[in-house]
Amino acid sequence: MSKILITGGAGFIGSNLVDYFLERGHEVVCLDNLATGFEHNIAHNFGNRRFRFLKGDIRDLSTCREAVKGCDVLSHQAALGSVPRSIKDPITSNDVNIGGFVNMLVAARDEEIQRFVYAASSSTYGDSQKLPKLEDEIGKPLSPYAITKYVNELYADVFSKSYGMQCIGLRYFNVFGRRQDPNGAYAAVIPLWVKQLMEYKRPVINGDGSYSRDFTYIENVIQANDKALFTPAEKISDASRFAEVFNIAYGGNTNLIQLFEALRENLAKYDEKIAGIDPLFGPVRAGDIPHSQASIEKAKRLLDYQPKYDARQGFAEAAEWYFQHL
Ligand SMILES: NC(=O)c1ccc[n+]([C@@H]2O[C@H](COP(=O)([O-])OP(=O)(O)OC[C@H]3O[C@@H](n4cnc5c(N)ncnc54)[C@H](O)[C@@H]3O)[C@@H](O)[C@H]2O)c1
Repeated sequence: MSKILITGGAGFIGSNLVDYFLERGHEVVCLDNLATGFEHNIAHNFGNRRFRFLKGDIRDLSTCREAVKGCDVLSHQAALGSVPRSIKDPITSNDVNIGGFVNMLVAARDEEIQRFVYAASSSTYGDSQKLPKLEDEIGKPLSPYAITKYVNELYADVFSKSYGMQCIGLRYFNVFGRRQDPNGAYAAVIPLWVKQLMEYKRPVINGDGSYSRDFTYIENVIQANDKALFTPAEKISDASRFAEVFNIAYGGNTNLIQLFEALRENLAKYDEKIAGIDPLFGPVRAGDIPHSQASIEKAKRLLDYQPKYDARQGFAEAAEWYFQHL
């Protein structure tokens, strides 16, 4: 069993990772400042002696050092998500997502952490229109957020070369599932629409609904983190030091009309009034690319990543969860 630091562990993805690794008998330290995460996402673990919650900020190096002390591996999820947030306030996104990232790298290096896994992003593909997305073919970033996530990859590469670290970036594609926050100005499309449908409001589809995404259910992301943390180094690289990035997705595509219909259909199982709600249509959002779909061949080949949940199964599970918890 390992001692794992999960930064951002009170957030959507992080708290799911906390539960998963505790259930498997590992020791887990969670570092989070609750900027966009919630204590109630982890409170059920407070009595567990293998769990420690450190409320603190990754922008503070001494906090990062304290969190990483005695850990074997690290899953770095803490960041300020959301493209619009970064456009509104690029300085804070930069400070947290780049400054905080470098702090974590330095703390991990000095603690001789075996492996540094971190949340990268499909936003790194930027304005590239090529499909499916292959790890080596990226375009120009379209937002401050995308820059921060790409700079993370560059830093991971340099830290691996300079200090012999093993770094793995997981480029998540539109992750969704239980605990993703439906509230606030920067809510992601799935929890936002679910909440609106449950309140009998009409969600707005930006554009004509033909834009598509590779929606990725949380269970697949959990599996990817497990594989990235624990796959033996020799299966990933010839060298003992490396920095790799992997697309983490299902490898499918769902357009916004299909997404809306799937969410409506699943929620209508619990409340038939929802079946009668139609969407509204609004303007395309600036900077949105029409389509995004991942090639997941690299993660399959080197990490033995085998996503078990397609988007449809995920929508059904997520709808059920929101229905019980909202
Ligand atoms: N959800 C997605 O579709 C998606 C896609 C690509 C990448 N990502 C990345 O995955 C990671 C997790 O995202 P999420 O969707 O779970 O978002 P989230 O907002 O739910 O989780 C992020 C967590 O980081 C914490 N955090 C933020 N700033 C911090 C700071 N300065 N110090 C300590 N903790 C801090 C927040 O409080 C929150 O708990 C992020 O790095 C995000 O950029 C997510």
